[in-house]
Amino acid sequence: MGRKWLAVITGTIYIVLSGAIGLSLAGGMDLPEAKGKAVYDYITKTNPYQNWALFPGKGKLYKGAHPHGAFLTTYVSADALEAIQNRSGLLPDNSFIIKENYRPDKTLAAVTVMYRVKGYDADAGDWFWAKYTAAGKIAKEGKVSGCINCHAAVINNDWIFTGPVK
Ligand code: HEC
Repeated sequence: MGRKWLAVITGTIYIVLSGAIGLSLAGGMDLPEAKGKAVYDYITKTNPYQNWALFPGKGKLYKGAHPHGAFLTTYVSADALEAIQNRSGLLPDNSFIIKENYRPDKTLAAVTVMYRVKGYDADAGDWFWAKYTAAGKIAKEGKVSGCINCHAAVINNDWIFTGPVK
């Protein structure tokens, strides 16, 4: 009798655990490829960035500089937030930073994205870069030399200008 119950309980635990592991793997598989369309679908549909935290220390529509826009709102994914708050120095793989670029009249001009993809571009911090119009059209994507050359000025801050990450 005792043994039978043990088998039932062990079996139940096994089923629950494998379900949980399956779910977490599925969560991981949702992450997009380093492609403009896949990334846009992810940040607007699968995991809408406007529900994410703002870059630590920044509010909405703070004053920006050339080339990004007169006003900026910058969002970070949960793993990126944790790394910035802990001043880890480097954001982990799969981190996103998403910046809305607004015109002086506060209408949205573009959305620019940095997405860290393991092994994507070892020469430039493994960041995938993208720029979308306000309507979601891809303006730039990939290993964009314009983005990389300017952001290289802050290579010691993980290619990030907005605030210290270490
Ligand atoms: C001439 C320099 C320059 C170029 C080119 C540039 N950026 Fe930036 N970027 C900045 C600066 C400066 C900031 C900080 C915000 C501000 O003050 O405008 C920034 C901030 C960002 C941020 C927020 C995270 C961070 O690094 O602070 C993202 C995301 C971003 N840029 C993406 C891009 C993408 C994508 C491109 C190319 C399409 C690009 N940038 C091109 C200078 C540049």
